Amino acid sequence: MSVSPTHPHAECHTDRNADPSPSIAQRLAFAQPIVRDAAALAMAMRPAPGGPDASLKGRQDYVTEADQAVEKLISTRIDALFPNDGFIGEEGGSQRDGQYAWVVDPIDGTSNFARGRDRWCVSLGLLYEGRPMGGIIFAPALDEFYLGQIGVGAWMNGRPLKASPLRDGRSAMIEMGWSPVVATDEYSRRMTQFLEMGAMPRSSGSGALATADVASGRLDAYLEIAINLWDVAAALVLLAESGAVTSDFLGEGGAERPTRFLAAAPGLAEALEQVTSIPLKSDRSS
Ligand code: IPD
Ligand code: CA
Repeated sequence: MSVSPTHPHAECHTDRNADPSPSIAQRLAFAQPIVRDAAALAMAMRPAPGGPDASLKGRQDYVTEADQAVEKLISTRIDALFPNDGFIGEEGGSQRDGQYAWVVDPIDGTSNFARGRDRWCVSLGLLYEGRPMGGIIFAPALDEFYLGQIGVGAWMNGRPLKASPLRDGRSAMIEMGWSPVVATDEYSRRMTQFLEMGAMPRSSGSGALATADVASGRLDAYLEIAINLWDVAAALVLLAESGAVTSDFLGEGGAERPTRFLAAAPGLAEALEQVTSIPLKSDRSS
């Protein structure tokens, strides 16, 4: 198997969190064109503006034919290349176990996609023995391609990701994700905490892109009261490499069930821990 890593420094593994073998860089190199092809398929299937053009899995919980087709494309191509790898997908059609495991959100931001909007992405994370090691997120309508590898780095369209330097909550922009599983009271209580800090609120419909925004410094924090592994598996790597701080999503059970997740600029860690009572830590590896 001959591989040309498609990001800088892809083969320098320097610390305790770095590759257990060169296989992670190889896997990510092979996975990037798969994500691009998956996103092209989704673009071709995107409904015209209007809608929503989708079926309902539950209240305000959409699924489109594209979600299923994109997950199938990724699952089939990964299985052909790495038949012993595990696979976990949001649409759940083809789960497999393995030491390496791919975690796929075929379209994150389906509610946007179903209305012909631009803010959605394909998200593909790579775990090794349950630890996030690699992440790829592509938002084709925004032309934003994110790539990260633990111990190596993280980039958006080739530019290194760096969490925001902000330290003052009164200048912060904070997004809160929403999903129908969250109680209205709890959502309002958390939003009030941020508003009382002086932060400007956002809610844009894609947990994967919002957490990537924390990694790039375009957002100062993101909170979701209950979010799934496939929404954040790729972004966990981007966040760790960007210097952001996060709550202990996997330690709190995020691989098994919807779990709270807070990610933030390091300079806001203390203030956010105080107002939310959610502990934050840095996973920076280099
Ligand atoms: C949802 C989006 C949303 C987040 C939800 C997710 P989907 O994923 O990421 O922003 O708040 O928790 O379920 O349904 O668009 O794939
Ligand atoms: Ca999702």
